[in-house]
Amino acid sequence: MKTILITIAAAMSLSAVAVHAEPTQMSPYATDASFGAEGYTSTDGEVLYQTLCAGCHMPDGSGAVGAGKYPALKGNANLEYSAYPITLIVNGQAAMPAFGTFLNDEQVVALTTYLQTDLGNDFEPDATAEAVANARPATPEDTTKAEHE
Ligand code: HEC
Repeated sequence: MKTILITIAAAMSLSAVAVHAEPTQMSPYATDASFGAEGYTSTDGEVLYQTLCAGCHMPDGSGAVGAGKYPALKGNANLEYSAYPITLIVNGQAAMPAFGTFLNDEQVVALTTYLQTDLGNDFEPDATAEAVANARPATPEDTTKAEHE
């Protein structure tokens, strides 16, 4: 009997360890089922947009007004030059979450190019990996300061 109890206790603590070993260090958004693992590895601007951004800005970029106010990205003159969207995507702003911690430079370029050339926008894409790298905070940990609501 004693051996059985010890075995059960050992099994329980093992499963507790297994639970704690789950990756949780990314943003809370990473654990949201609506953001599949594919969304983070894709370098396709459209896939990234539809996975990460469409929930707030709508699949066609028309934005939304409801619990919050999500600006339209469709036909948005603020997207003419990539510096602004790059900064927003990397660092967030107000209720716009920061994506810098889990998107690499190439992914941010792909997303920005998508915003500039799709969703009813017809701008000359000018995003570069270098510009994305420069938009990142000096210490990578800083991007985790983004507030998630
Ligand atoms: C949780 C909701 C949410 C998600 C997800 C989100 N955004 Fe936003 N976004 C916002 C809000 C809110 C603002 C307005 C921020 C402000 O008040 O300054 C905004 C602003 C923006 C702007 C600036 C628009 C302008 O005209 O000033 C861009 C560009 C943008 N978002 C792109 C993106 C991209 C690209 C993604 C996906 C990587 C994304 N957003 C995901 C909520 C969201």
